[in-house]
Amino acid sequence: MPETLLDIRNLHVGFRIFEGFLKVLNVIHLTVKAGERVGLVGETGCGKTTTVKSVLRVLPVPPAQVTDGEINYRGRNVLAMGKRQMQALRRHELTAIFQDPLQSLNPVFTIGTQLRDIVKDSAIGQGKRLSRRAVEARCIEALRETGMPDPERIMTNYPVQLSGGMRQRVCIAEALSTTAQLLLADEPTTNLDVTIQDQILRKLDELVEEKNTSVLMITHSLGVVMDLTQRLYIMYAGTMVEEGKTEELFASPLHPYSQGLMKSVPKLTGEGVSDGIPGRIPNYLDPPAGCRFHPRCEHAMPICQTEKPPLFNVKNGRQVACFLYRS
Ligand SMILES: Nc1ncnc2c1ncn2[C@@H]1O[C@H](COP(=O)(O)OP(=O)(O)OP(=O)(O)O)[C@@H](O)[C@H]1O
Ligand code: SF4
Ligand SMILES: [Mg+2]
Repeated sequence: MPETLLDIRNLHVGFRIFEGFLKVLNVIHLTVKAGERVGLVGETGCGKTTTVKSVLRVLPVPPAQVTDGEINYRGRNVLAMGKRQMQALRRHELTAIFQDPLQSLNPVFTIGTQLRDIVKDSAIGQGKRLSRRAVEARCIEALRETGMPDPERIMTNYPVQLSGGMRQRVCIAEALSTTAQLLLADEPTTNLDVTIQDQILRKLDELVEEKNTSVLMITHSLGVVMDLTQRLYIMYAGTMVEEGKTEELFASPLHPYSQGLMKSVPKLTGEGVSDGIPGRIPNYLDPPAGCRFHPRCEHAMPICQTEKPPLFNVKNGRQVACFLYRS
């Protein structure tokens, strides 16, 4: 049985704002095992980035507040870790690529300075000390692996001197230069030109395969999850509504929201899920009681308005949070 790396249970996260408390994440369950590639999809605003930032503990506090639940990484409670433990976890075990590479790159240092630090640090984490020349060679190799042209020159550039696609390649090189076993990729290519998106994702896929890194891939594109993940979670308004093998979930979505979502391929950006489901995600200040999807669900029953559906086990180990699947 592969080891469970990430195990999120019963997670509740909200944001205290002037108007009140936004109850965003509401009972999130999610696991990623060693060697797995897991997808997480859902409409804009459903809480995907909040989930990733909760794991990395990089949500701004305040306004963010974890009100309940557990996040475990290889059996260790992430929410109880001190600052130093958390830094070590982020440096050596968990890594992330975000939508906006400028958020992760420091504008005042050259790419070389930033990448060298990561490479040195990761070697120290493995109990090795590298010569300057070896560090330089590894940095250049890491950039070259992402398909970056002229990596020697890129090492001397500042982030602002690079195009969006180049910056995203630098972030991929950085993430994959760490010893991390788990990569959280939060829409790593959304801001890029469509032609480059595909190229970068394929490269990322090749590299994680080579390094046997586990991945949690967050994306708006169902095409990407179909190609790059083996297991999939569907999220709606801060709740996990369905989980299953990617192929099976695409072939026969069970939850009414997943069924609508699959009809709305390929992009979930913009106003609600076009064509699939009318309406939009609820206001988190006062989300609907019971099943958060009930105001938009054509199968809603009285129980859906008062009780929150738990995850029901359905055939082939699939799980779905919907009263239609009560046995
Ligand atoms: N710093 C914050 N302050 C207040 N509310 C926030 C903050 N960050 C997130 N939220 C709330 O959490 C909700 C979920 O946001 P999140 O960024 O996690 O969604 P997402 O699924 O990643 O969306 P997208 O697909 O657009 O990236 C937002 O709609 C917003 O209400
Ligand atoms: S629990 Fe009820 S409202 Fe929610 S998806 Fe199922 S049928 Fe629809
Ligand atoms: Mg997001």
